[in-house]
Amino acid sequence: MKAYKIFKSNIHRKGLRAARNIKKGEKIIEYKGKKITHKQAEEDNKYGYDITYLFTLNKRYLIDGDFKFNKARLINHSCNPNCEVLEENKPVLWITAIRDIKKNEELSYDYGFSFDCDYKDHVCKCGSKNCVGFIVREGSRWRIPGVRSKF
Ligand SMILES: C[S@@+](CC[C@H](N)C(=O)[O-])C[C@H]1O[C@@H](n2cnc3c(N)ncnc32)[C@H](O)[C@@H]1O
Ligand SMILES: [Zn+2]
Repeated sequence: MKAYKIFKSNIHRKGLRAARNIKKGEKIIEYKGKKITHKQAEEDNKYGYDITYLFTLNKRYLIDGDFKFNKARLINHSCNPNCEVLEENKPVLWITAIRDIKKNEELSYDYGFSFDCDYKDHVCKCGSKNCVGFIVREGSRWRIPGVRSKF
């Protein structure tokens, strides 16, 4: 039985939820797409929309995950995620549980966005207790004015 289901998320439009209980460490779904360079992403208007389906692999490459067959593209960001993206046999990406997940819980991971001048463009609506209000990677959240006390 598949571990995930598409549903209408409270965070943003569609998301994935657990279709059954999932154990910590379980590989849930592969993140599939096309490998492109940052330069290609910058030069092609296709990648300039508000909703982004780009996954950064490293300084040179990204995965364009904007394909129907890539259901993992629907996973939203959370400041208190239950999944992470593991790179296995580069560049195969697996969405993996970082804790036990109960049936029906929304699946989420830290999008890993850096803290830069436009962090305010990415408002976070994850709704978790420790939500910092913006989609910024965990290690940089202390830089957001007013959130230092939460860490
Ligand atoms: C890869 S898509 C996720 C799937 C999306 N919910 C959908 O239905 O297509 C990424 C986009 O979802 C939205 N999103 C994801 N996590 C979010 C969050 N925690 N708060 C607000 N918007 C979020 C943002 O617009 C982001 O650019
Ligand atoms: Zn949040």
